[in-house]
Amino acid sequence: MVYDFDEIIDRRGTDSVKVDGAARMWNRDDLMPLWVADMDFRTPPFVMDAIRSRCRHEVLGYSFHPEGWAGSVSAWLNRRHGWKADASWIGFVPGVIPGMAMGVRCLTSPGDKVMVQSPVYPPFFDVVRRNDRQLVVSPLVRDGGVFRMDFEAMRRDMKGCRLLLLCNPQNPGGRVWTEGELRMVSDICEENGVLILSDEIHADMYLPGFRHQVFASVSDYAAAHTVTFMSASKAFNMPGLSSAYFVSSNESLRTRFSDFVESLHLDYGNIFAFLANMAAYTDDGEDWLNQMLAYVQRNVDYLESRVRASFPEIEVMRPQSSFLVFLDCRGLHLSQEQLVKLFVEKAHLALNDGSTFGSGGEGFMRMNVASPSCYVVEAMDRLSVALR
Ligand SMILES: Cc1ncc(COP(=O)(O)O)c(C=O)c1O
Repeated sequence: MVYDFDEIIDRRGTDSVKVDGAARMWNRDDLMPLWVADMDFRTPPFVMDAIRSRCRHEVLGYSFHPEGWAGSVSAWLNRRHGWKADASWIGFVPGVIPGMAMGVRCLTSPGDKVMVQSPVYPPFFDVVRRNDRQLVVSPLVRDGGVFRMDFEAMRRDMKGCRLLLLCNPQNPGGRVWTEGELRMVSDICEENGVLILSDEIHADMYLPGFRHQVFASVSDYAAAHTVTFMSASKAFNMPGLSSAYFVSSNESLRTRFSDFVESLHLDYGNIFAFLANMAAYTDDGEDWLNQMLAYVQRNVDYLESRVRASFPEIEVMRPQSSFLVFLDCRGLHLSQEQLVKLFVEKAHLALNDGSTFGSGGEGFMRMNVASPSCYVVEAMDRLSVALR
C-alpha cells in the first residue's frame, strides 16, 4: 500500500499541544507550528483499525496487558535492531519521560549526582532537578556538522555520578551514536560504576544510510547496568496514547525498577495502547515506517538545499534519525532573544528555541519536518521574507 503523506489534516481544535498549544504559548494565532515532536501525518490506518475494532465492543473495562504484547515488542526489537531482548525483560511504563523520572527516583537518592549531555531534550534536566538530584551537565561538541561526545570531559564530569541519562539517538541534534561511541560511554560508566537510563524513543526512525545501535547491546557492562526506554509512540505518531516500555536484561535491576513502577500503580496502562503498539510492530508497520522516513528524508533534503541556497548564514544539522532538524543560526549574529523574535514575529513560525535544550543550544532553533512537504516550503518562504 502507498501512503499519502501530502494530505493536509486540520488539527486545530483537537487540544493538540503542537497546534493549539502554539497559540497559547505565543499568544498569537498567525504561527505555523513546527515545534512539538509529533507528526502532522495521519496515524497509520492499521493502528486506527486496531483502536476502532476494540471500540466497537463498547465496554472499556479493566484489562490485562494483552498476551502477546511483550512478545511482539521482543520480535520487533530483534527484527529492527538485531537486539535479542527476551519478552520477560519488557514492562509497561506510561511514557518514556515518566519512565526516566521513575528510574531517577528508584535508582538514586536525593542529592545524588546524575549526568546528562547537553544540549538535550529539556525534560532530561527536569527529571533530575525536580526530583532533588544534583544535575551534572557534560557538553556535547559540534564538529563537522554533527554533535560528538567529548569523552575527556565526560570522564572528568562523571566522577561521583550515580546515573547517566543517555539520549540515543540524540535529540535535538539527531545523531545516531555509533557502536564505537557507545562502547566508550559504556567504558566510562564502568570505570565509575554508573548506571544508565537510555532513552531510545527515536530508535525506530533511523534515516537511510544509518542504523540504530541499542546501547544495552554494546557491552556486557551496558547490558547489566542499563534500563532502556522505548515506545512506538514517536515513530507511529500516537504519543497521545501515553504508552512506552522499559527493557532490562538484568533481573535484579529490572525487578527493582518494576517494583517501583508497581508501587506507584503505573503499570496498568490503557486498553488502546497495547493494541495500537501490537498493530504497529508488524510488517505493515515496517512498510509504513519506511515510506514515512523516505518522505521525511525528502523534506530534510529540500530544507537543506533551500537553506544553503537562500540563507547561507544558517546551517542545517542533518538528522541521522527522526524528523527534527537543529538549525545552527549563529551565523546570523543575533542574541537568542532576537533570534526567537525573528522566527516568531517576522517569519510567523513556531519552532523550538535552541536554548531550551540547555548549554550548547544557544544560537539554534529546532524545526520539526514531519509534515506535508508544502508546510516546509511555506516555512522557507516565510523565513525568506523575514530575512529580507
Ligand atoms: C528524546 C525524547 N524522549 C522522550 C520524549 C517524550 O516521550 P514520552 O512522551 O513517551 O514521555 C521525547 C519527545 O519528544 C523525546 O524527544
